[in-house]
Amino acid sequence: MLDMLRPYWHPISRDSDVGMEPTRYTLLGEHLVVWRPSPEGDVVVMKDLCIHRGAALSAGAVVDGTIKCAYHGWRYRADGGCAHIPSLPEGAPIPAKARAIAYASRSAYGLIWVCLGETPAPFPGFLETVWDNPDYRSVYVARYDWNASAARVAENAMDFSHFNFVHKGYTELADGPVIKPFEVARQDQGFAYAYDDGHLLREYVIEFPFLVHDRKGVLNPEGGATWSDSDNARAGDVTLLSFLATPVDETLTHIHVLVTRNHALDRDDAEFTGGFDTVMEQDRVIVEGQRPEQIPVDIKEELHLRLPDAASILYRRMLRELNLPASYMP
Ligand code: FES
Ligand SMILES: [Fe+2]
Repeated sequence: MLDMLRPYWHPISRDSDVGMEPTRYTLLGEHLVVWRPSPEGDVVVMKDLCIHRGAALSAGAVVDGTIKCAYHGWRYRADGGCAHIPSLPEGAPIPAKARAIAYASRSAYGLIWVCLGETPAPFPGFLETVWDNPDYRSVYVARYDWNASAARVAENAMDFSHFNFVHKGYTELADGPVIKPFEVARQDQGFAYAYDDGHLLREYVIEFPFLVHDRKGVLNPEGGATWSDSDNARAGDVTLLSFLATPVDETLTHIHVLVTRNHALDRDDAEFTGGFDTVMEQDRVIVEGQRPEQIPVDIKEELHLRLPDAASILYRRMLRELNLPASYMP
């Protein structure tokens, strides 16, 4: 399963957390070294492995814009090419195979995104509409580390039918737990659906496989309240919660949470981010306990309710397609 996820873009860190000090991250079970050639330089992401004797490059240091292995001092440029082998005499050719493995990376939405595949999937673009929009303010909330698979984490983030049980008093469906019909529409990079509970219109956009955006628009300020509303909510207030799940390995997931709002821009951000620790903890206990840890992708496994579980059913179908050979046509 992890190999099938290599073409996708995954956020590994906040941009502002990466400096010149080589640092190890793990993505899809593979150790990576992340560094900058200069304080303002673009982030470089490589396999955390020196081709010479397999030492971890993250134990090295950045010297003159290159990363220097701690073991025998080989130095690699940002593109992976070897710049220097100290044990060779001056002027001796450097073997062409002496390369570090550099991966595609990008900075966007305050995060460093990495693709380990040779043919990258389209870059996740949903947040572009709000990121540079002066009517909105985006805040990084925190990273949550859960001992669960990324698909279980993402499916939890897209499921609103658990709100009235797990998040009582925090975020409940204003009109109760009975789920009314709603349409799930497949899109180029995932799928989308919306649910109107009389107080909020909750619009979900899933950028497959693990990025879940939950856009809550106030329809009727009197109709209910959730913890991320402001005290004097007005119709048209939008609060967008983005749960960006990164598969560190099969059973460890980092969840980067962003919150974007178009209201109360003069108020302290902490008022809108403070409740996440509680809500995420409520979810963590449930999701870490789910078995099997890997989400079953055969719809015949686990028991789905056709209407309330419509989003999960499509999600699992798409995960299943991921595992099918490229020659398979549905
Ligand atoms: S293992 Fe890196 S230089 Fe020898
Ligand atoms: Fe939840």
